[in-house]
Amino acid sequence: MTAVNLGLPHVPSVSSPGSAPRPDNPALIDTFGRVATDLRVSLTDKCNLRCTYCMPAEGLDWMPGREILSDEEMLRLLRISVERLGVTDIRLTGGEPMLRPGLEGLIGEVAALRPRPRLSMTTNGIGLAKRAAGLAAAGLDRINVSLDTVDAEIFQRITRRDRLSHVLAGLAAAADAGLAPVKVNAVLLRGINESEAVPLLRFCLEHDYHLRFIEQMPLDAQHGWNRGEMVTAAEILDLLRAEFTLSPSPDARGGAPAERWLVDGGPGDVGVIASVTRPFCSACERTRLTADGAIRSCLFSNDETDLRALVRAGARDEEVADAWRATMWGKLAGHEINEAGFAQPIRPMSAIGG
Ligand code: 5AD
Ligand code: SF4
Repeated sequence: MTAVNLGLPHVPSVSSPGSAPRPDNPALIDTFGRVATDLRVSLTDKCNLRCTYCMPAEGLDWMPGREILSDEEMLRLLRISVERLGVTDIRLTGGEPMLRPGLEGLIGEVAALRPRPRLSMTTNGIGLAKRAAGLAAAGLDRINVSLDTVDAEIFQRITRRDRLSHVLAGLAAAADAGLAPVKVNAVLLRGINESEAVPLLRFCLEHDYHLRFIEQMPLDAQHGWNRGEMVTAAEILDLLRAEFTLSPSPDARGGAPAERWLVDGGPGDVGVIASVTRPFCSACERTRLTADGAIRSCLFSNDETDLRALVRAGARDEEVADAWRATMWGKLAGHEINEAGFAQPIRPMSAIGG
């Protein structure tokens, strides 16, 4: 397979990023000139669904409680990221973030940080119907709900749970609570829910939810991902074009990974995130914190930095900040999924955060 051009300028230190001396800069810069301002925090690795492309039916060996950051430890790291490292956007993820006890309280404390970060959450929507208003009141600004189908049987086949109606009620509650724009993330699986591309888009247009399709990435715990079976962004667009007219959205793509298309002239639109076939690594603004306190510069990092050990050993804020900066300085150019010898990260998606 040929290497993909990531659109990066040639930098001589590509083979060993991080080896160049790091300029004295408080932000999360890397050797390719990127600046990470968007923090993804996994609050728990647990989940109440069992999506086939994510984990096996029996679930996974969840992280032991003592390994998971306490609220106080988590909050301290988030405060350091906002006050010292220039993080402006915090997205709460999982597993399923709503399974973290005391979530609303944590959100309230994150929203009280200054400068106040924009605060969003990626959730599977189970339980959202009851909690959306409280989450918004606590300080949550926006929400992304994962939904791969609007057909109850297909939903059960993918998630191994009969919960479609819960997710639909959760979406409606999120819109009512003002968590707008409500976004929907969908993954298409060959032979399982390709037929759902058009119904999903129709459903989202009707309800003014913003739909984004995400190419399936090799992040499942079972290591069952197969390049040839993946439904590509080009195929997704073909499926949609059979029913809708798509024109490129005038909104700039910026650091956002989704390529957006106006549907039938707008104002409704649809996004396609071609993580595999058209990687956006050169514009990446992300840094990641796992529930057990590891910093990762990328979903696909092969190494990570254990901030929990530093925190529990009594490190000062600036020492923690420096370890975080050093990790990001070593961020690689891209994920290399398309390169020979690509190795899937050891942690599955559910333990890193989407
Ligand atoms: N590839 C692409 N997206 C995935 N998600 C979970 N696993 C994968 C994968 N292997 C999605 C979920 C959720 C978001 C966090 O990422 O459906 O919307
Ligand atoms: Fe849970 Fe998300 Fe994994 Fe589905 S994809 S099992 S909702 S963590």
